Amino acid sequence: MHQTVHVELGERSYDVEIGPNLLAQSGAMIAPLLHRPKIAVLTDENVAELHLDALRDGLASAGIEMTSLALPAGEATKSWPHFERAVEWLLSEKVERRDVVVALGGGVIGDLAGFAAAVLRRGVRFVQIPTSLLAQVDSSVGGKTGINAPQGKNLIGAFHQPSLVLADTSVLGTMTQRDFLSGYGEVVKYGLLGDAEFFEWLEANGPDVSDGEMAARVRAVTRSVQMKADIVARDETEQGDRALLNLGHTFCHALEAATGYSDRLLHGEGVAIGCALAFELSSRLGLCSQEDPSRVRAHLRAMGMKTDLADIPGDLPGAEALVDLMAQDKKVIDGQLRFILARGIGQAFVTSDVPREAVLSVLEDALTTV
Ligand code: GLY
Repeated sequence: MHQTVHVELGERSYDVEIGPNLLAQSGAMIAPLLHRPKIAVLTDENVAELHLDALRDGLASAGIEMTSLALPAGEATKSWPHFERAVEWLLSEKVERRDVVVALGGGVIGDLAGFAAAVLRRGVRFVQIPTSLLAQVDSSVGGKTGINAPQGKNLIGAFHQPSLVLADTSVLGTMTQRDFLSGYGEVVKYGLLGDAEFFEWLEANGPDVSDGEMAARVRAVTRSVQMKADIVARDETEQGDRALLNLGHTFCHALEAATGYSDRLLHGEGVAIGCALAFELSSRLGLCSQEDPSRVRAHLRAMGMKTDLADIPGDLPGAEALVDLMAQDKKVIDGQLRFILARGIGQAFVTSDVPREAVLSVLEDALTTV
């Protein structure tokens, strides 16, 4: 059941190992990277409670000694104060230039630890051990690292590729169903943006993925990571194609901002609703058939996911205000909104050529059902 996806980036290439019970094998997998049998692990308090002992045992079985720092769980940790604490802890642990830092956790820890590794002693290597579905299929792969600023999310950071990613699909069993389905929003995104067959497979097998059927989980994670790896290999620093990974994200970021980045709307939930809206917009612009947005919504609905604006609890601002929030997105170039639209399921493309009125009309109609 164990799969390997290679991310081809010349001298920065690495493998993503995907399968059950990889924590137990972590020592054997990480050992080839080490100059001395010692590793510093950054994690969060929740993940530490659940998985740190398993990682310690896995490393010890290869004779690797581990020290760890557990930061508070949650998005607020992706900030200067916790970043400073992490970097100073790594220095106090005497992590050297040839050592390896491990990120054990979800997207927050992966992004923060990766950024800490990027700047520590001008750059040390790091290994991602993502423990959430979202981190396994998205944030642990591709080398985007960083923290949030008061001015916005992910505004401080660096591209720093990991040396190895261990996506242990067994640990997904400890996620809440809501968090798991939020990550599944990113999985669906891959089918929608570039692989109609994968989307069809998800329509048939999504319930098995959600119910914890291991072979289905491994396949869903592997196909998602393979798609991300191919896109990142073509466009590491997002000069072009990598923006395809932002399907659904322009709508999502406006909705996240409108809901105050609170648990009214998790990131992957916003991505799923955003994908449905991006297909609605594509259909209204005559780019794809009217059936496509209905099919996207039908799958999200069948999975028990948030699908429409009405599924977001509480009030939302009007369409104009939401479009204004989109204009604050960091992906805006020269004041032009960039959208990922689609000519059909699996056929996404990047464009700045979207009339504001068309976006407004999609949002106005979506808001009338709230
Ligand atoms: N999460 C989007 C990217 O890695 O480019």
